[in-house]
Amino acid sequence: MIVCHCGVVSSRDIAEALGAGAASVSEVCRRTGAAQNCGTCVFSVRQVVCQHEATQPIADEEPLSAAS
Ligand code: FES
Repeated sequence: MIVCHCGVVSSRDIAEALGAGAASVSEVCRRTGAAQNCGTCVFSVRQVVCQHEATQPIADEEPLSAAS
């Protein structure tokens, strides 16, 4: 799905930027070229970033220990 029509940036491009280490919406925009022209896509970019983060496991989560 195209998220930024000006830059022709897709949700896959955004996921790839996140997978390559982009850690913020602004960094995703810089790496992909999204939201660099009219800016109307920035909320859609943010939504894709949030959806991607929601599907990622929590890295610092401690495994549950069995009660003894
Ligand atoms: S639609 Fe993304 S900058 Fe215009």
